[in-house]
Amino acid sequence: MPQLAPDPDAAALARDPGALAARLCEAHPEAAASPDAVRVVFAPGRVNLIGEHTDYNEGFVLPVAIDLGIAIALVPTDDGIARLTLAETGETRQFAVAAPGARRGSWVDYAAGMGWAMAGAGLPVTGFRGLLASDLPQGAGLSSSAALEVASAWALAGGERPPTEPMRLVHLVQRGENGYIGLNNGIMDQFASVFGEAGCALLLDCRSLEHRAIALPVDGLALVACHSGSPRRLEASAYNERRAQCEAAVAAIAAIEPGVAALRDVTPAMLEAVRGRLGDVAARRAQHVVDEDRRVLDTVAALGAGDLAEVGRLFYASHASLRDLYEVSSPELDALVAIARATPGVVGARLTGAGFGGCTINLVRRDAVPALREAVLRDYPARTGLAPRVFEVEASAGARRLA
Ligand code: GLA
Repeated sequence: MPQLAPDPDAAALARDPGALAARLCEAHPEAAASPDAVRVVFAPGRVNLIGEHTDYNEGFVLPVAIDLGIAIALVPTDDGIARLTLAETGETRQFAVAAPGARRGSWVDYAAGMGWAMAGAGLPVTGFRGLLASDLPQGAGLSSSAALEVASAWALAGGERPPTEPMRLVHLVQRGENGYIGLNNGIMDQFASVFGEAGCALLLDCRSLEHRAIALPVDGLALVACHSGSPRRLEASAYNERRAQCEAAVAAIAAIEPGVAALRDVTPAMLEAVRGRLGDVAARRAQHVVDEDRRVLDTVAALGAGDLAEVGRLFYASHASLRDLYEVSSPELDALVAIARATPGVVGARLTGAGFGGCTINLVRRDAVPALREAVLRDYPARTGLAPRVFEVEASAGARRLA
């Protein structure tokens, strides 16, 4: 297999489709033989403003697709083999697109899982030679997996046009994650990666699948992700466990309230009435989800009314609930939120994504971004012994063909 030298500036290639296509031709002779057939596709990562661990409870989420993501330059082939090279390391992995076989325990599983899910759903999949470049930090809770899956789905469909209808793609990605990767996650991450809109957050009702773009007050406000630099501990098992605890809570509540099919259906009054029958853990998990759904709708209303103080209050309440009731925060994420909260000009801060490490999302007055960056870089290492990373991100469009 051709070997490509690692590229120290691979992240820049994610933004430069011409250069990525040229590098593909160096890596794979099939691309060099037909450079006009090369396509470049891109899928973004996301931050979630609020609505954490609500998606698989059929509730509400408010994610934002960001301007960091994964690009794949590819040329389709007719051999049924996807051979994909990582620009950053030069490593090449391959799989049979329609029958990828067992997981390998590497990044390529996310691409292979899409072949498995798409072929399983009867969608045509093509072999390809590809080169992948990413400027999205991995394992940071910014949905690098969803970005890789969505970009891979485009590549497996030839790169010319979207692989299928957008909401069907969202569900195929979930099928790949649940059935191939083994993470029982919801639909928020890939929904954001597919449906992203510049300058907007996306309010999604995870039951009806209705969604609408919520314009962000772009003028004075910035979105800042702070990466804790801590590995996401026990993520898959703890995540699947949370989901199972929510299902157990639903079963216990439904025994008394037969109309309840998901935590989405539980009102605060109902929860009070059945609390004694739920174990302590189930009651706390359910309380988080019931309150968090409300907070999403309240955040949308507060953004609409320009009430940033209320948005901030909701962000901090969400974080506290994830820490105390849902128990998915970490001392590092708590430290980042505390530092942000003490910084004038920060509207709100909370952990974003699954938790267990990864990033916080901060809504910050633009002129206060340098102060937040400084405070995090100064205080966080002293509190945790870890090196943080601070990224200002922009609300951006969803997956698309770049060339
Ligand atoms: C991960 C999952 C999502 C969602 C979040 C928590 O990002 O992939 O489906 O459940 O955690 O809100």
